[in-house]
Amino acid sequence: MYGTIVFVHVVSAVLAIGPLFLLLPTIKRLRNVDLPTENAYLTIIKIIIRLVMHAGHLLVISGALLLLTGPWPWHTSWVITTLAILLASGVFLSSGFTKVLRKYHLPDSNKGEILTVLTTTAWIYIGLMLVMLWLMVQKPMLW
Ligand code: HEM
Repeated sequence: MYGTIVFVHVVSAVLAIGPLFLLLPTIKRLRNVDLPTENAYLTIIKIIIRLVMHAGHLLVISGALLLLTGPWPWHTSWVITTLAILLASGVFLSSGFTKVLRKYHLPDSNKGEILTVLTTTAWIYIGLMLVMLWLMVQKPMLW
């Protein structure tokens, strides 16, 4: 059973990180396009963000189940550090992507600036996910 939860956990990690790499080239293509193309790309971006969000939830739920059923106590240093980063990136993802995207259609919005913010947010998010991935795989005793 524990092995199955680890598998679900790893698959959800793949789905929570992988699609972000599609986000970057999609955002790049949004610059200076006509309205129908813009809407098509925005739909793809929203689907990617929703997928990453659902996978992130599954990642946290399966991670919590691993702690409840497995050998690692919640106060292990790499677990606490992951939880701290996760809390930061969760807040970050919801406000960083969703709020900014909502502004995109406002008449006085600066689209170029919004796309730059989205790209930066995507890179920071990828960075945070990779740090957590490293913590999970290496399981370093930090203190
Ligand atoms: C709520 C947050 C999380 C908790 C409580 C948690 C908990 C755990 C635990 C206890 C294990 C050990 C399984 C074992 O080897 O026996 C594990 C493994 C793993 N976790 Fe997480 N995790 C969390 C978030 C994440 C995140 C954000 C990622 C990816 C960015 C991730 C990716 C992985 C991977 C790839 C493994 C397998 C590593 C290995 O066994 O070598 N986890 N997780």
